[in-house]
Amino acid sequence: MEKVLEKIIKESISYSDSKGDQKDFYTMAEYAAKTPKLEEQPTFLEIGTRGGGSALALLKIIKTLGLDTTLVTVDPYGDKPYDGKPWKYGDKLYTQMKKVLAPYGNHIHYQMTSEDFINIIDTVHYWFKGKERMFSEFSFILLDGSHLPKTVIFEYKRLLPKLIKGGYIVIDNTNFYGKEVQKHFQGSTDKTVEVINTKDQTIIRKL
Ligand SMILES: C[S@@+](CC[C@H](N)C(=O)[O-])C[C@H]1O[C@@H](n2cnc3c(N)ncnc32)[C@H](O)[C@@H]1O
Repeated sequence: MEKVLEKIIKESISYSDSKGDQKDFYTMAEYAAKTPKLEEQPTFLEIGTRGGGSALALLKIIKTLGLDTTLVTVDPYGDKPYDGKPWKYGDKLYTQMKKVLAPYGNHIHYQMTSEDFINIIDTVHYWFKGKERMFSEFSFILLDGSHLPKTVIFEYKRLLPKLIKGGYIVIDNTNFYGKEVQKHFQGSTDKTVEVINTKDQTIIRKL
């Protein structure tokens, strides 16, 4: 699997902003590849899609593992002001994402903030291979949208109940803002999860 993951990362990373930090991208892919295989596989979820690099890796992992499921991505684009930083996520990245992910019929994109998505997920349905599904469970979750601690913790609290047992949530850049998110998880007494803090990511496994 290691060699296959290396190939997937090589093919996807150039569409990502992780060019300088391949380790984070590799860690994300490594945990996604540990997703338990189920008979009716719930969807993968990515918050924060930018040019589609990490989403492409996730779609390739889904294919490689032979998982019969979708990837749902959520990102508002539209040059929405980003956490007080000068970075812009507009049409150029949105069209790149669509182009890069176009070959994958099992990709679904919601062009909205994570807050809006989380507030509607229990009210919308989607169709996959003739079956109507809801976002009642997720197999794997990547949180890489806003890195504001308040937003990340909101996403985590609302999405954890939907994660399958043995599944992972990978949260990127938890070293930002004085490591507030890392400290939040270090102090957690929740016995239903295992927490792994790396230098700049937090990985949660649901037990
Ligand atoms: C760090 S980039 C994502 C990088 C991508 N995961 C990759 O590795 O290729 C952050 C993205 O989050 C999006 N974003 C910003 N605020 C958001 C929010 N509230 N909800 C969802 N996505 C958001 C931005 O538009 C941007 O595309």
